[in-house]
Amino acid sequence: MPFRSVPGQASVAEDAEGGKLFAPAAARNLAPLIEVLQAHSPRKGQALEIASGTGQHVTGFAGALPGLAWHPSDIDPARRASIDAYVTEAGLANVARAVALDATAPGWGALIGPFDLIMLANLLHLVSAEETRVLLAEARQALAPGGRMLVYGPFRRAGFLVSEGDQSFDAALQTHDPDIGYKDVDTVATWAASCGLVLSARLEMPAHNLTLVFQRT
Ligand SMILES: C[S@@+](CC[C@H](N)C(=O)[O-])C[C@H]1O[C@@H](n2cnc3c(N)ncnc32)[C@H](O)[C@@H]1O
Repeated sequence: MPFRSVPGQASVAEDAEGGKLFAPAAARNLAPLIEVLQAHSPRKGQALEIASGTGQHVTGFAGALPGLAWHPSDIDPARRASIDAYVTEAGLANVARAVALDATAPGWGALIGPFDLIMLANLLHLVSAEETRVLLAEARQALAPGGRMLVYGPFRRAGFLVSEGDQSFDAALQTHDPDIGYKDVDTVATWAASCGLVLSARLEMPAHNLTLVFQRT
């Protein structure tokens, strides 16, 4: 399962004890994401996390929303091993083993699910426009009717980058790979709508990030 290379600062994870990886950014944004999930996700059902990363997020989400059965996933086997290590350590019964999922590959939406919730943090700026469209269409297919998808990360707003940090990060991404970089929030909403995901909330998050809440029509 090949995956795109990204510059080092785009996906920082340090080795931690017990086979775990630790991402400082994931530790920082866990609490705000839990707050958003508590306000915008169903209380029970099946929840898929795409691009789970280290496992810090899904461990926190599953503890805070125990009525959901969580299914973490990632393209990277090292991240999947870390996810499983966090979940085992936390002793969480409502989290499955991490599965291999390339969310930008056509076809997966018909093979897994249906999910009442799909959570995605910090991936769209690391993939191309075309890959983003595939991901949205597959996620829509994997959602149950009325299911929700939360997409968190950095975005352009009306074409603009909102801070100097965002400008230099986006420039570093595009220097590394001209196909990747920040997506415009309105463009993402239009792509989502065209495959049956309607934007129901756009939430300001710390560090100039956004969470977009989509609902399957
Ligand atoms: C910046 S990290 C974000 C991790 C986590 N969601 C977070 O916010 O802390 C990006 C993650 O996406 C994963 N990834 C990259 N390309 C992917 C793809 N095509 N499908 C699924 N996961 C992918 C990487 O392995 C990495 O774990």
